[in-house]
Amino acid sequence: MALLHTRRLLATPRLAAAATRASSWWSHVEMGPPDPILGVTEAFKRDTNSKKMNLGVGAYRDDSGKPYVLNCVRKAEAMIASKKMDKEYLPIGGLADFTRASAELALGENSEVLKSGRYVTVQGISGTGSLRIGANFLQRFFKSSRDVYLPKPSWGNHTPIFRDAGLQLQAYRYYDPKTCSLDFSGAMDDISKIPEKSIILLHACAHNPTGVDPRQEQWKEMAALVKKRNLLVYFDMAYQGFASGDINRDAWAVRHFIDQDINVLISQSYAKNMGLYGERAGAFTIICSNAEEAKRVESQLKILIRPMYSNPPLNGARIASIILNTPDIRKEWLVEVKGMADRIISMRTQLVSNLKKEGSSHNWQHITDQIGMFCFTGLKPEQVERLIKEFSIYMTKDGRISVAGVTSGNVGYLAHAIHQVTK
Ligand SMILES: Cc1ncc(COP(=O)(O)O)c(C=O)c1O
Repeated sequence: MALLHTRRLLATPRLAAAATRASSWWSHVEMGPPDPILGVTEAFKRDTNSKKMNLGVGAYRDDSGKPYVLNCVRKAEAMIASKKMDKEYLPIGGLADFTRASAELALGENSEVLKSGRYVTVQGISGTGSLRIGANFLQRFFKSSRDVYLPKPSWGNHTPIFRDAGLQLQAYRYYDPKTCSLDFSGAMDDISKIPEKSIILLHACAHNPTGVDPRQEQWKEMAALVKKRNLLVYFDMAYQGFASGDINRDAWAVRHFIDQDINVLISQSYAKNMGLYGERAGAFTIICSNAEEAKRVESQLKILIRPMYSNPPLNGARIASIILNTPDIRKEWLVEVKGMADRIISMRTQLVSNLKKEGSSHNWQHITDQIGMFCFTGLKPEQVERLIKEFSIYMTKDGRISVAGVTSGNVGYLAHAIHQVTK
């Protein structure tokens, strides 16, 4: 009787389809862990405390805690709209005015590399996509090693970017949790032992997540060592101008390595320094030995890009290109990027002075020594948990805060809460 009943049910088309669906192709696919940073944002959104703060996400906020669109971006958008520009495909390598200006921004206008043409720059899908083009190129053409050495710690996405491209991840010491600063001797010691002709990744400025950058003398020593070990240097430059407020100062390390005749790779992003997060404007550059080699490398980059996404997105590159190539808009951008950097620097100072006012006896100097969007506070996971539970202040478990989320309105509350969990 039960069998008859089942047969009758299956006879209806919808249930028969459900029975077919039961044998899935994907039953072996396990639930993956949520993204650690997006998880912080989700928890923040659910919190109803009016004093809540989200210090997890790496996006700039103005002093009232609001997302900020730069005036130079608004002007570039108005130009695009008034000229009624078309929406045709870009070439595989991207918008030429944008890639040329990006190379110039990274290398400096008087760069010998630019003059001799011994480089190739292609447009990438912001910093992440540009890193991935580089990783795929290395996987295909860098024959001497599969190993990429990352600083410990590094931006969380570096590992899957290189791993998914088929490379192997290794690490060199970088951050000393005892001093909340650079472990320079540890880094130098580890780098001196990296097998020759391996790949090393360096953060050009505003190291994420620690906010700790080498000083210029330390960069010089690192460049000399890297050259001696004959390592291939890959610079991730996601924060040019955003760290110190000065585009040239933030590109100092990249330019110094090139001056030492080190042929680096560079990924650039306009997410932070132009606030173009969702526009996905970025660039990837390879410095070559000569212009003829650069042409060959360019041809292979195009062959790599074509089956990935055919050609890059137009709008963000157009905006960035107008900003970089129109003298008065560029001038305005330089003021605005400095404004963002200065606000962050001033929040660091205010946080430390508020901690002192609270009566904290800890040494918080690393907060002002560190640079860029992020600060490695040195808070322990249990202290972070208390900040979330008792004060609705959200951050990643490693104690990293996005200083861009701190404002003159909430810095006092943040200092009070940090003091309560650290005293
Ligand atoms: C070190 C580093 N590299 C690259 C990126 C890439 O960002 P996007 O893909 O948004 O340009 C980021 C963003 O947080 C970063 O911190």
